[in-house]
Amino acid sequence: MVSLKTEVGGVILERPGMVASGIMDETGPSMVRMLENGAGAVVTKSVGLSPNAGHANPCFMEVTSGYVNAMGLPNPGIDLFKEEMDVAVPKGKIVGSIYGATPEDFSTLAGRMEDYGACAVELNLSCPHAKGYGMEVGTDPTMVKAIVSSVKDAVSIPVWAKLTPNTHILADIGRAVQDAGGDAVVAINTLKAMVISPEFARPVLSNKFGGLSGAAVKPVGVRAIYDLRTVLDIPLIGVGGISDWRDAAEYIMAGASAFQVGSAIGTVGIDVFDRINKGLEEFMSDYGYQSISSMVGVAHE
Ligand code: DHB
Repeated sequence: MVSLKTEVGGVILERPGMVASGIMDETGPSMVRMLENGAGAVVTKSVGLSPNAGHANPCFMEVTSGYVNAMGLPNPGIDLFKEEMDVAVPKGKIVGSIYGATPEDFSTLAGRMEDYGACAVELNLSCPHAKGYGMEVGTDPTMVKAIVSSVKDAVSIPVWAKLTPNTHILADIGRAVQDAGGDAVVAINTLKAMVISPEFARPVLSNKFGGLSGAAVKPVGVRAIYDLRTVLDIPLIGVGGISDWRDAAEYIMAGASAFQVGSAIGTVGIDVFDRINKGLEEFMSDYGYQSISSMVGVAHE
């Protein structure tokens, strides 16, 4: 019998696919809907200390094989987010994604997510365009180490760090997470991108820059997981452009113990997790893999 059960960064998942931060995860009911449709866990939209309206429209655009968005980290703030967590947490595993500018911001937010019943926290160290947040803090290994250490001191739930591909020092950032005691690395967040309207002779998004997600980024994500696997001992979670079981298998064989799906919830639909789970089971049974762990990193052998 093939099993899809996996353990990653201190969390046991009955199914290896999670909802990636930012898609169908801003409200309790939308998170519950994903848990009921085959997701092993849901990562919340990134939440900060205070309410944030986000950027003006246009903030989202479809491009060839993906999306470019700069929502501007919209969220109700950690106090109000309790209402959403109260709805979702009783129904399954919820990972609290948080963003901040300092180690103190992150440790405060992580403590609140732990109080709300999150099974882990995911640190957004990688939004490609948020001023003072995201990759502005997440591309400095010293800062990354300080943030992860401070969160580790503040909570007893597992701490995952989501990293940016927009850097040539990914391995150094990964090592900073591991040295600080981080429980898992999540890779990748979106690629910094831009779309220009020839008619208006201007960038389309109000923020000018945005993050590219979807099928277009998958080979970059697979490469990032493969590279991280060669330098880190802590578990990895693969994300970026996964829409079917083959994409998930690539990430697992590159070294990921679990994976996340975002854009494909839009392009494939709500049943994307059920389809991936079924396809993975068939493939594993045909090729003699009895567990996810027996497939992790086999592309390195
Ligand atoms: C946003 C945040 C992200 O982490 C990302 O990858 C893309 C967009 C945002 O809220 O703008």
